[in-house]
Amino acid sequence: MWSLPRLYVWALALAATCPAATIAAQLAWNSQHQTERVARAMTGGDPSHAPEIMRRYGCTGCHTIPGVAGADGQVGTPLAGLRGRVYIAGVATNSPDNLVRWIVAPQAFSPRTAMPATGITEAEARDVAAYLYAR
Ligand code: HEC
Repeated sequence: MWSLPRLYVWALALAATCPAATIAAQLAWNSQHQTERVARAMTGGDPSHAPEIMRRYGCTGCHTIPGVAGADGQVGTPLAGLRGRVYIAGVATNSPDNLVRWIVAPQAFSPRTAMPATGITEAEARDVAAYLYAR
């Protein structure tokens, strides 16, 4: 038979192992995880490679990029909240393919843009696009 004090101990143990903070953290982690999964599916890229790629091609010197240490450039727009934008650089409809194309060859959309073609490959641009859509 379960005595009342014993039930109480169980309830206390349960509260200690999953307090509200743990649940909130779990929900936040799940939603970031889900966003990242969608971004991978949309672009075919792997966001985990993106910070290193963006450092290598100098994106970080011109753009402020959330989650990338030292990416505090002020030449271009901050690359935050890309998935909520209607246009890329004001000239291309925001779609995964257009974002990848812009990153590889911005002049193809906007011949006079100050953003250079950096030499990034399409596969690398897909990793970067996955990262930017997941932020
Ligand atoms: C020499 C500076 C420079 C470098 C290097 C650079 N960009 Fe840009 N970028 C810009 C400028 C300036 C714009 C704004 C272009 C415009 O509106 O014509 C821009 C625009 C963008 C946009 C569109 C943003 C928006 O708000 O719609 C994306 C995405 C982007 N850059 C990604 C990258 C990535 C990824 C790299 C690295 C492969 C990179 N940029 C390298 C200067 C740069």
